Amino acid sequence: MIRFSVNGERIETSVAGDTPLLWFLRDNLELTGTKFGCGMALCGACTVHVNGEPTRACVTPISTLAGKKVTTIEVIGKSPIGKKVQDAWLSEDVVQCGYCQSGQIMAATALLTKTKAPSDAQIDAAMSGNICRCGTYNRVRAAIKVAAGASKPAAAPAAKPAAKAKA
Ligand code: FES
Ligand code: FES
Repeated sequence: MIRFSVNGERIETSVAGDTPLLWFLRDNLELTGTKFGCGMALCGACTVHVNGEPTRACVTPISTLAGKKVTTIEVIGKSPIGKKVQDAWLSEDVVQCGYCQSGQIMAATALLTKTKAPSDAQIDAAMSGNICRCGTYNRVRAAIKVAAGASKPAAAPAAKPAAKAKA
């Protein structure tokens, strides 16, 4: 039996210890926001936090998680920094196809939790393992700066047009 927590919920499981965390999240807990990309720790699509550290869930066996805290994209917006990151992702219109973006947001949130005002070099170093086939890298960097308070949002979400009065 292995005991750990996911998004604040206590987990006790007897699945095989070599089961990758990614499969456990998706298949056992139905937390499908964390994505499968390469399965080899090469793309970052599966990034979650384990005790606050960005971690590749695809190569993290369940057996290594005893007593640890796993956080996924499903709840990251409940933390103050995660909320800032998600808001910046919207204002900078970062997402294209979206497939890599859970991992990008988890990596960015981990970065800003440790480093409040990262330099370009620190951003590049922290995000270099998160691959985006759609090439959103410039917008990812811009959004991280907005979330850090180092630059202003490019655009507020469009306001709904006022309803017209009936003639
Ligand atoms: S799916 Fe885990 S790093 Fe690519
Ligand atoms: S937004 Fe499409 S892979 Fe990154």
